[in-house]
Amino acid sequence: MNLWPAVIIRFLIIVCATAKLSADTVWLDDLNLSPIVQGWGKPQKNKSAAKTPEEGNPLKIKGKLYERGVGTVAESVLLIHLNGDAKSFSAEVGVDDTKRGSTRASVEFFVIGDGRMLWRSGIMHASESAKHCSVNLIGVKELLLKVGDADDGDNDDFADWADAKFDTNSTKSFKTSREPTPVAVAPYILTPAPPATPRINGPKVFGVRPGSPFLYSIPATGDRPMQFTAKNLPTGLQLDAKTGRLSGILSTKGEFLVTLSAQNPLGTATQSFRIVCGDTIALTPPMGWNSWNCFAHAVSAEKIKSAADAMIQSGLANHGYSYVNIDDYWQNHLPTNDHTAQDIVGPFRNAQGVILSNSRFPDMKGLADYVHERGLKIGIYSSPGPTTCGGCAGSWLHEQQDAKTYASWGFDFLKYDWCSYSSVIDGKIETPPQVPLRKNARDDSYAIYPYKIMGEYLQQQPRDLVFSLCQYGDKEVWKWGASVNGSCWRTTGDDNDSWRSISQIGFYQDKTAAFTKPGNWVDPDMLILGWIGWGRLHPTSLTPDEQYTHVSLWCMLAAPLLIGCDMTKLDEFTLSLLTNDEVLAIDQDELGKQATCVLRLTELADKVADVRVYQKKLADGSDAVAFFNLGAENVNLNFKNFEKLHLRGPQKVRDLWRQTEVANIDTNQQALPLSIPGHGVLLYKFTAN
Ligand code: GLA
Repeated sequence: MNLWPAVIIRFLIIVCATAKLSADTVWLDDLNLSPIVQGWGKPQKNKSAAKTPEEGNPLKIKGKLYERGVGTVAESVLLIHLNGDAKSFSAEVGVDDTKRGSTRASVEFFVIGDGRMLWRSGIMHASESAKHCSVNLIGVKELLLKVGDADDGDNDDFADWADAKFDTNSTKSFKTSREPTPVAVAPYILTPAPPATPRINGPKVFGVRPGSPFLYSIPATGDRPMQFTAKNLPTGLQLDAKTGRLSGILSTKGEFLVTLSAQNPLGTATQSFRIVCGDTIALTPPMGWNSWNCFAHAVSAEKIKSAADAMIQSGLANHGYSYVNIDDYWQNHLPTNDHTAQDIVGPFRNAQGVILSNSRFPDMKGLADYVHERGLKIGIYSSPGPTTCGGCAGSWLHEQQDAKTYASWGFDFLKYDWCSYSSVIDGKIETPPQVPLRKNARDDSYAIYPYKIMGEYLQQQPRDLVFSLCQYGDKEVWKWGASVNGSCWRTTGDDNDSWRSISQIGFYQDKTAAFTKPGNWVDPDMLILGWIGWGRLHPTSLTPDEQYTHVSLWCMLAAPLLIGCDMTKLDEFTLSLLTNDEVLAIDQDELGKQATCVLRLTELADKVADVRVYQKKLADGSDAVAFFNLGAENVNLNFKNFEKLHLRGPQKVRDLWRQTEVANIDTNQQALPLSIPGHGVLLYKFTAN
């Protein structure tokens, strides 16, 4: 039998198949990967993600090597413009074995075509075999390849699209771009201007320790001059009727229910106010300003004074903002080559070990007095290590002395960082025997210790200092922050003015909610609105809707509201975001609950969506509910899922940004129509009636 025809036919089939693969196959790694936005490092072609291609390792999932593919880190998104020219997509997906892929790594792969979920991997962990993904793409114009971080925010989530390729209609390549962003809109003001009649704003409760100087300026809007009165003021306190400033000292513990009133020729406002003299301060989240996000290393006493003046002149103080906080760079700096910093290079301490302020802060006590004279409070910054994050003097081995110095200068707030403390716990510098080291660690005490001692020293001072822990959430600070007398604790690294930053920080705080209560607040970092820029000012890059989301979310979380911008450059829109009293009241609510995400809508009318509903119980029995749209496109829906929110029967619904009632519905039967802009929010209050 002649075998040649069969061999030739076989050969031709192989040739054709190979030709077909090369002609009609577009490899993902051959596309332009630069638009990929991801959690850490850079996406890599045929390697695991890394900072540079040299640092990446060959793609490997559970020991299996892959020659081709894309290595990325969650959260990661790439938009591919297929324009209907692809037939299918296939890949092997999983967590890369690269050393940095920690055992905690967990990711989820999503393939979304024209807004529809085509495939999702389910949550995958490190050391799990790759999953095969194969999707039909006929007719699909835009494809989103997305890797989510399974909501745990871990930056070691190395994720591979291995062997990833498209079968096409003879197209050679596809264009790629960044994930879709919302259509640009101009800033729009929702906050109604406060009336000319008096209105008392701010919290309804205030905590002070016995024997500490009391200072509280009644925040009130309305035409000036205004006359203030306070009924049932406890002995030891007095009120300045013209400024509305309450001051004095309470010597014994107790609760005092006071009635405040503010009067101008147009009317009178009254408000009950609870003064709690006890062990706990910061009974509502601190509100104020911090110098870091705008001035960073270029801060000076003059800028702090201008900030205090601006807080008054802009009217911010009338809405409850009171802390003017100096961040890093008030101390002397280590020797540096930076010619702009020579004036702050100098000794850290005097012969007695007392910390020295640098030449830009010639008189710390005088500065504190300046701020207090305006009815405001003042904050300072340090680090438990020998130096701060910026290379200035830290409090290492001088904690007690520093606490005393801050109090003697008149400070009301200490932000205490972590920087350079690793050199202590890793034994890189000589350490007294009582300081726990990491290598001997059987528990987390080495990480807690520096906050414990500073917390104790602050407690010993004859004035109240809010203790703000800034160690980025290490060792689940929310679980022990209260035990070291912390008032609030940062749970993340620094934020910046990008949607990615504020959404990835703000929407990851549920884990801390059980620990949030009056006196203990979660701190997702400072507000990133207005003119910011760490010494090089620019207007925030957040869109107007992202800014509404930022403020709404921080208020729902009961986070400290520390303005980060140059307050001498406040525009009307930024001011409107910062001064909506109904929105601020959510943050300052005396029940002190932190909102959590109670419902997530991931699909609407067959399309992929990301709507998150946050709910927070309020002291008056009502509920604040925020409907956040994390997607880029406007979302319209008829919301019916009130059971999930435990809301029943007739409810009045108030739009807090617009300060108007938007509905009066029977939640057992009716739906609430919602239209939420991309990256935007509707912030409502539900009151049963
Ligand atoms: C850290 C903190 C910032 C700021 C700087 C100062 O990065 O997270 O908020 O205090 O230090 O150097």
